Amino acid sequence: MGIGIEKIGFYTPNKVLYLEDLAQARHVDPNKFRVGIGQDEMSVSDGSQDCVSMAINATLDYLSDADRAKVGLLILGTESGVDQSKSASLFVKSALKLPNNLRTFEVKEACFGLTAGVAIAHDYIQTHPEKTAIVIGSDLARYGLKTPGEPTQGAGSISLMISNHPRLIQFEPGHASYSEDIDDFWRPDDQLFPLVSGKYSTESYLKFFKKTFQAYKDSCGLNTSDFKAICYHLPFTKMGFKANEIACDHQPAAIQERLRTNFTLSAKYTRRVGNIYTGSLWLSFLSLVKNGTFELDDRIGFFSYGSGAVAEFFSAKVCPDYQNALLTSKHLAKLMNRQRLTVPEYERLFNLPLMSSKEMSLTSDEASGFWYFAGCHQQIRQYRQI
Ligand code: CAA
Repeated sequence: MGIGIEKIGFYTPNKVLYLEDLAQARHVDPNKFRVGIGQDEMSVSDGSQDCVSMAINATLDYLSDADRAKVGLLILGTESGVDQSKSASLFVKSALKLPNNLRTFEVKEACFGLTAGVAIAHDYIQTHPEKTAIVIGSDLARYGLKTPGEPTQGAGSISLMISNHPRLIQFEPGHASYSEDIDDFWRPDDQLFPLVSGKYSTESYLKFFKKTFQAYKDSCGLNTSDFKAICYHLPFTKMGFKANEIACDHQPAAIQERLRTNFTLSAKYTRRVGNIYTGSLWLSFLSLVKNGTFELDDRIGFFSYGSGAVAEFFSAKVCPDYQNALLTSKHLAKLMNRQRLTVPEYERLFNLPLMSSKEMSLTSDEASGFWYFAGCHQQIRQYRQI
C-alpha cells in the first residue's frame, strides 16, 4: 500500500457570526457576501481558542493510545502562531501526551503550511514505514473590524494522520510547484492583522493555479477529465469557484458538470466556517468526501496556495473504505453546536488581547474534554482541558 491520509480531525470554535447579520450591520447587500464572496457564516474565537488549542482539539478527534505509540513526527503549520521562537507544536505534543522521542516543529508559509507539512511527512514515512506522522494546520483568520477582508475571516484546525496504511486517500507520485516573491498578503512582526491586497491575491491565485495545474497534467500525462474532483485552497469560496471555472474551460459538458458539482460539495464547510488559512484546502477535502460519492481509485486533485506566494498541485486516489474513516457526526456536531453571536458580541470578542503575554487567566464555555488557552502565567501561555 502507498502513503496517504489514515485519519482526519477537525475543530472550529463554538461561536459563529452569520454574514447576513454582518451585512446588515455594515450596510452591505447580503448577496455581496453570500453570492459575490461565497460565504454564509464564519466561526469566531472568544479568545480562549488559538492555534495551539484548536490543533489539540482537532487531533483529539481521532487520537488513540495505539496512535500515540506509533507517531514519530508532529508538524504544525500556522500563520497565526503564538511565539516567535518556540514551536506551537511543543504545546500540542505535551497536551496530547505524545512521546518525547518524536521530531516536532512548526512551519510557516502563509496558507501553504499544512501542505508543506504533508510533503515532509510523506518523505518521512518513506524512510520510517513503521511510523506515522501527525500534520496539523491551525489558524485564526483575522483581518480587522470594518475592513474589506472582514467577511473572509474564520477560525479552525485540520489534523491529518499520514501513514502507509491510508484509509481516506493515497497520494500519487509527483507534484507541480510554482513560486514568486510577491506582496499579496503578509503580516510584518509589528502588525496584529495581515496586510492584504485582496484583488491582487485573487489574480495571483488564479495565475498560480493555471501554471501548476497545467504543469502537473503535462508531467503526469493526465487530462482534466482524469480528475473526479479538484479541491482548492478556499480563503473564501468564490476564489476557488473562479479557479474551478478555469479547470472547466473547453471541457465536455459532462466533465464540467462533474467538476462543478464536486466543487459545490467541497465548498460546503468553508461557506460555514470561513477561512482557516493553513487548514483551508483540507477542510474543502473533508467537505468533499463527506458530501460526495466516490469509488475506489477515483482521482482527486489538490491545489494548495500560500500568499507571498507559493503554490502546488498534486493528486491522490480514494481508498476503498474511506467513508468508514470519516468522523462525520463529530465534525457536524462542531458546526451545529456553535452559538450564534450578535455583531456587537462578535466585535467585543474580536478586541480581546489574544496575543498578549501579560498575566491573565481565561475561562472557556466549550464542552467537556476540549482544550483551551487559559491565559498567561509568568509570560508563559497556559493550556487546560475542560
Ligand atoms: N450581489 C452579488 N455579488 C456582489 C454584490 C451583490 N450585491 N456586490 C458585489 N458583488 C460581487 C462583486 O461583483 C465581486 O465579484 P467578483 O469577485 O466576481 O468580481 C465580489 O462580490 C466582491 O466584491 P468586491 O470586489 O467589490 O469586494 P471588496 O472590495 O469588498 O473585497 C475581497 C472582496 C477582495 C474578497 C476582500 O474581502 C478581501 O480582501 N478578502 C481577503 C482576501 C484574501 O483572503 N486573500 C487570500 C489570499 S490566500 C490566503 O488565504 C492568504 C494566505 O495564504 C494566508
